[in-house]
Amino acid sequence: MTGIHVDSVTKRFDQDATKPPTLDEIGLSIADGEFVALLGPSGCGKTTLLRMIGGLEQPTSGSVLINGEQLSGASKTTRRKLLANVGFVFQEHNLLPWRNALANVAVPLEVRKVPKAERLRIAEEMLALVGLSEAAGKLPHELSGGMRQRVAIARALAYDPDILLMDEPFGAVDAQTRDSLNLELQRIWMQRRKTVVFVTHSVPEAVFLADRVVVMRAAPGQIVEDLRVTIPRPRSLDASLTQDFLATTARLRSHLGEGTSAQELAK
Ligand SMILES: Nc1ncnc2c1ncn2[C@@H]1O[C@H](COP(=O)(O)OP(=O)(O)OP(=O)(O)O)[C@@H](O)[C@H]1O
Ligand SMILES: [Mg+2]
Repeated sequence: MTGIHVDSVTKRFDQDATKPPTLDEIGLSIADGEFVALLGPSGCGKTTLLRMIGGLEQPTSGSVLINGEQLSGASKTTRRKLLANVGFVFQEHNLLPWRNALANVAVPLEVRKVPKAERLRIAEEMLALVGLSEAAGKLPHELSGGMRQRVAIARALAYDPDILLMDEPFGAVDAQTRDSLNLELQRIWMQRRKTVVFVTHSVPEAVFLADRVVVMRAAPGQIVEDLRVTIPRPRSLDASLTQDFLATTARLRSHLGEGTSAQELAK
């Protein structure tokens, strides 16, 4: 069995049983190479779910399986092996301010003790993949917000994980940069076919990028919709004007309680 399986996962941060759990019996299976977007109101548990899939948080009950192996409760060695296969991109890029772009991309390779020449070769290749070869020598503060996010993506891809977990990676960049990052991510995904779980607050972004959009609700955190997006790839930004795209965003918005007015759809 490959892919990610979230099996009846409940998470309680608060032991008070009269309060709803943060995540309530979540069941979610993500196939190898699938791109799943996760939508839901603030506080519904998206980050918590992502952290649980990445082994950064333990479920109160239920289990997470990566490629058929139990993550929760596994031995240190097994966990390390499974998590070596997972890359994270957070909303905050977390780049080391004193290292240039190339050296930042190389960090996970250093941790894995990849020899220096090989590290440089891979880091250069990853920077080229995200279109930043020219910026290799620049420090994070010399880069734009969008460029920093690109470096963070290159870093997550550097050790070639099968699974990429992305938590609102483009939340802090302007709309135009976000459009170009979305196009770039689509291109990279089509080229590399990672399994991606992508958290976002943007309905159009979710529909543009994903094979499936999963919508959660809050208190208790549950899945209320799991919608397949059938718009063929590569998707152009103009795809957002098609009937199919608009019908999909309208349906998702109805679950998010955002209404489906023309104004909303035009966002
Ligand atoms: N370490 C923690 N300790 C206690 N409570 C936590 C912890 N992490 C998250 N929570 C709570 O769990 C709930 C879900 O948080 P989470 O960050 O997963 O939400 P989210 O859906 O990612 O929200 P947002 O869209 O604002 O990022 C919130 O009520 C939050 O306060
Ligand atoms: Mg979050």
